[in-house]
Amino acid sequence: MEKLLEIKNVSKSYSGVQVLKDVNISLSAGEVLCFVGENGAGKSTLIKIIAGDIQANSGEVVYFGKKYESTSPKQIIDIGVATIYQEIDLIENLTVADNVFLGREIINRMGAINTKEQVDRTNRLIEKLHLEDIHGDDMLSNLSTAQKQCVQIVKALQNEAKILILDEPTASLGDKEKKTLLELVKGLSSQKIGIIYISHFIDELFDVGNTFLVLKDGVQVVVRSKEETTPDQIINDMIGRDASNFYKREYFPTGKRVLKIDHYDNKRNVHDICLEIRSGEVFGFGGLIGAGRTDLVRMIYGLDKKTNGKLYLNDKEITPRTPKDALNKGIFMISEDRKGEGLLLMRSVRENIMITHNEKREMINLKKEKETANQSIAAYRVKTVDQEALVSNLSGGNQQKTIIARCTIDDGDVYIFDEPTKGVDIGAKEEIYEHMLNIAKHDKFVILISSDMPELLSMSDRIGVMCSGKLVEVVNSQDTSEDKLMRKYLGY
Ligand SMILES: Nc1ncnc2c1ncn2[C@@H]1O[C@H](COP(=O)(O)OP(=O)(O)OP(=O)(O)O)[C@@H](O)[C@H]1O
Ligand SMILES: [Mg+2]
Repeated sequence: MEKLLEIKNVSKSYSGVQVLKDVNISLSAGEVLCFVGENGAGKSTLIKIIAGDIQANSGEVVYFGKKYESTSPKQIIDIGVATIYQEIDLIENLTVADNVFLGREIINRMGAINTKEQVDRTNRLIEKLHLEDIHGDDMLSNLSTAQKQCVQIVKALQNEAKILILDEPTASLGDKEKKTLLELVKGLSSQKIGIIYISHFIDELFDVGNTFLVLKDGVQVVVRSKEETTPDQIINDMIGRDASNFYKREYFPTGKRVLKIDHYDNKRNVHDICLEIRSGEVFGFGGLIGAGRTDLVRMIYGLDKKTNGKLYLNDKEITPRTPKDALNKGIFMISEDRKGEGLLLMRSVRENIMITHNEKREMINLKKEKETANQSIAAYRVKTVDQEALVSNLSGGNQQKTIIARCTIDDGDVYIFDEPTKGVDIGAKEEIYEHMLNIAKHDKFVILISSDMPELLSMSDRIGVMCSGKLVEVVNSQDTSEDKLMRKYLGY
């Protein structure tokens, strides 16, 4: 097999902290190589080195059999390596074709951009990839996250990439969209494109992957081929314990208090939602992406406009007008878009954890604050050099854990978790589950939105299924299954 890429003894450290140590791996044509490991293991760092975004301290990367003295991101793209990061890197108010050809426009004899040719070529590629629902002249802003993800792939292929790198491409996708993307990746590998794939979903890795590189604290633990391993073994390599001992939630009687969601509506994509939730229960919301779950909880939290809707706690109205009002009433929300909405990237881990807590206080006791921050860092196993480190230097998953820590240090009453384990490794997921249950157990209200069906089923007492902005059914999790739920999501 032709070797597309060879990584030889690559090491990297940041201010004396080693994040990669002597990594050796190669990628062949048509191979799907997966990087697996806990949050902060070094997966994204390795990708950034391959993409030329950062330089290794020692070791080398050989591209298509050739060594390069120094590399820039542009040069790496030009030799045929496309990297798709988790955050979508496209321009919203351009068309799909304009995005695909951005920086490599087709110019006609008059010196103008040949829009028609760009759209035609984009459409041909889209067709070749069987992405029927996307068109070259669609405005990017009209597409779903999954479709944008696909446009990034179209763009990479237009640039004739022979190596495609995907860093957690499915983290923001629902089940159905995930399948489309996975099929696309499999199709590309059959066309001899070499693929590097990162994901925290083990079943997904076994679906697309041929080879697994397991990293732990920057050290290469093992390389395994799919034929000679199992998901359990990979999890064991990753976190050093058995997958079969995995988290089983504890059930306890629900409390007496009632949270009533009354006629919530925005006359757009959320229609007249009425629901009663009991304290002590974990109430899950299921549905496909776009079903209206996030929009509903954003209204409840006072973040988005509504045309109707009141919130009652034991018959007393507590409808939040703004997020600040919600906080004062003990309502917390861990939002789905944590990077966009919550994280202060240029502040320390401590400041990020303590910010909402401090907003409510006139005096800040630094000593106490440091203690609390340290406790949270330990409780959520946030991997950081210390609490004064910049949050922007943490790995993706550890940034997520920081936000969750922030929202759970104060004593509240209602906790809304929107996709709380997105991008979080399998060990850390357990810790988040434990915290959620602990909250419920103290007679609080816990609302969970999750696109991860096994998670939703195993964590929720009851699940409200949403479809096109309507609450179609509320089921007991014990009485349903993934299969049944999916049918309900799709509306049949
Ligand atoms: N610019 C930086 N300065 C200091 N430390 C950094 C920097 N970038 C990354 N790190 C550290 O390197 C380690 C590896 O991070 P990396 O992003 O590669 O992890 P990851 O395996 O991708 O994790 P995740 O699953 O959470 O995305 C982390 O401990 C992180 O804090
Ligand atoms: Mg990462």
